[in-house]
Amino acid sequence: MYRLLLNWYDKHHRILPWRTSPADQEAGLRADPYHVWLSEIMLQQTTVEAVKAYFLKFIQLWPDIYAMSRADEDDILRAWAGLGYYTRARNLKKCADIIVADYDGKFPNTAHELKKLPGIGDYTSAAISTIAFDNPAPVVDGNIERVISRLFAIETPLPAAKVQIKEQVEQIMPQKRSGDFAQAMMDLGSSICTPRKPSCILCPLNAECIALKNHDPELFPFKAPKKQRPVRYGSAFIAINQQQQILLRKRTTKGLLHNMSEVPGSYWDSRTDGSTNIDAAPFPAEWRFEGIITHIFTHFELHLHVYSADNITSYITNDGWWVDIQELQHEALPTVMKKAISAAIKDAFKKKAH
Ligand code: ADE
Repeated sequence: MYRLLLNWYDKHHRILPWRTSPADQEAGLRADPYHVWLSEIMLQQTTVEAVKAYFLKFIQLWPDIYAMSRADEDDILRAWAGLGYYTRARNLKKCADIIVADYDGKFPNTAHELKKLPGIGDYTSAAISTIAFDNPAPVVDGNIERVISRLFAIETPLPAAKVQIKEQVEQIMPQKRSGDFAQAMMDLGSSICTPRKPSCILCPLNAECIALKNHDPELFPFKAPKKQRPVRYGSAFIAINQQQQILLRKRTTKGLLHNMSEVPGSYWDSRTDGSTNIDAAPFPAEWRFEGIITHIFTHFELHLHVYSADNITSYITNDGWWVDIQELQHEALPTVMKKAISAAIKDAFKKKAH
């Protein structure tokens, strides 16, 4: 089965900045483990399309593990802003420090060793050892879960089916070119074996696919019903002064989005609502209601009531700083805060035309 898949990959693989093409590998070139690690951390909870530009920015800023180890966590957070799940960014730095201090700057090449490092779990350790070192370990991401559950018509619902899926991957993965095999499964899942309306006619594995033979592939994977996310409420205040600057402050050093920047507002977290009126404003002003933005976090959905006031004159703060609106993209602002600011200032984060 893997032959069919690898032949398809040789012709149809996606060209991605962290990959080495099959032809280059044939010529003895391997993907840089630093690139594979960085991309896999970024791809843990973010789409390929969104990751491309961040990946290129990161390797320009920090071209190797030594550069990243020398970097400031705040600079890494700033460059990461917008990708979400910021623990990943903090772990980049921790992991780089360990690789430099304990591993002579070289990533270990087995999933077992890699898994001891911060931010590297089951999936990422398997992906790095397989893709960077061609050291086969079962790589299972969301795309691969879908492909495998269809190929073998697995009727156990996810997440219980994960064990079975991993065993199937172990059985069908090759010992050579295991990295290409894993990435071929990912590419197949994203281009052909899609969640809806899969293009089975084009699939290199269509003759092998039990779901296609016996059922409707679109029914797979089976999924256990999801728990509803609770909705939480809060408020955020966009204060604009006469110099067209806005007021930011730093979040606390613990908890959700810690150490990142934010606009002033009410407290909220996965269990606590904040006030949605102007009680939590940083100072009295003519606050205008700008609307409600919503943002989905892992454990809750936040509805944030956004207010703004402009022409602020004399407010001096030691609990924050004023930033030019044009400079906002350089701040460590999480997406929820970018949404709140954009509700009041429509083009705050629009890319400028050259
Ligand atoms: N998603 C996670 N890792 C990936 C990779 N190496 N290529 C494409 N998509 C991915």
